[in-house]
Amino acid sequence: MVWYMYSNRPSDIHVGSDENEPLRLHGRYRRNLSNDTGNHLRLWTYHIDKNEMKKAELPIDKNKWHPSLIPGVITLISTISADGKPNIAPKSWVQMVSMEPSILMFSGSKGNTTENNIIQTKSFVVNIVSSDMAVKVFGCLQWFGSERIEKCGFTLGSSKKVSAPLISECKAHIECSLHNTLEIGSGLVVFGNIEAVSIDKNIELADENRKYELLDQILFLEDRKYAGIGKIRKI
Ligand SMILES: Cc1cc2nc3c(=O)[nH]c(=O)nc-3n(C[C@H](O)[C@H](O)[C@H](O)COP(=O)(O)O)c2cc1C
Repeated sequence: MVWYMYSNRPSDIHVGSDENEPLRLHGRYRRNLSNDTGNHLRLWTYHIDKNEMKKAELPIDKNKWHPSLIPGVITLISTISADGKPNIAPKSWVQMVSMEPSILMFSGSKGNTTENNIIQTKSFVVNIVSSDMAVKVFGCLQWFGSERIEKCGFTLGSSKKVSAPLISECKAHIECSLHNTLEIGSGLVVFGNIEAVSIDKNIELADENRKYELLDQILFLEDRKYAGIGKIRKI
């Protein structure tokens, strides 16, 4: 809808619209002095979006964003130390970085076992978490190291291309060798060359949309909240 104000002298201002609706003079406006409408010179044209949103400001601190504006895929990253001790940890700040060559990244923290192991042995596996594993994944942080693996009842298996083990209960795995690390603020970003990818055979054989249903991935929202992928749509 377009609202406009027009006048042929400053004391005589009229307001009109291209729809017969009550006047609401807010929104963006555009000066439009060149448009002569009959005897009147159109002064201002207001383009009013009926659905125009009012925006509330959020703090810079991501912990205070409710809802979370950047949900991340929940994964379990498995690693092994130089002296052969395996480790697993949930990570959701995971993202592809390059298609050619295939490189991904996750953001972790300096000093965590995961990141230390990766720096030592130059490998890690990104294991995709399904919704039936959510309680274990959120709950696993009360333990560390081998106790975390045992208490959660996860089974480690051999990877095809890297020394880090994979988590057999997960339905998909992305094996990575270390590309490099980058310290940014409180984060230690780990870049990994994707060396091998594997997925549950039933998922590989399923129809296009059913694949997502079977993988049943989850996204980290905030605190102890997560969500599934939901309905698949195609443009
Ligand atoms: C669902 C979920 C997602 C997480 N995502 C991340 C993440 O992306 N980056 C991070 O540094 N920590 C993340 N954490 C916290 C780490 O898993 C936690 O610090 C863990 O103790 C690290 O273990 P580690 O010292 O064995 O590597 C997440 C925790 C949960 C429950």
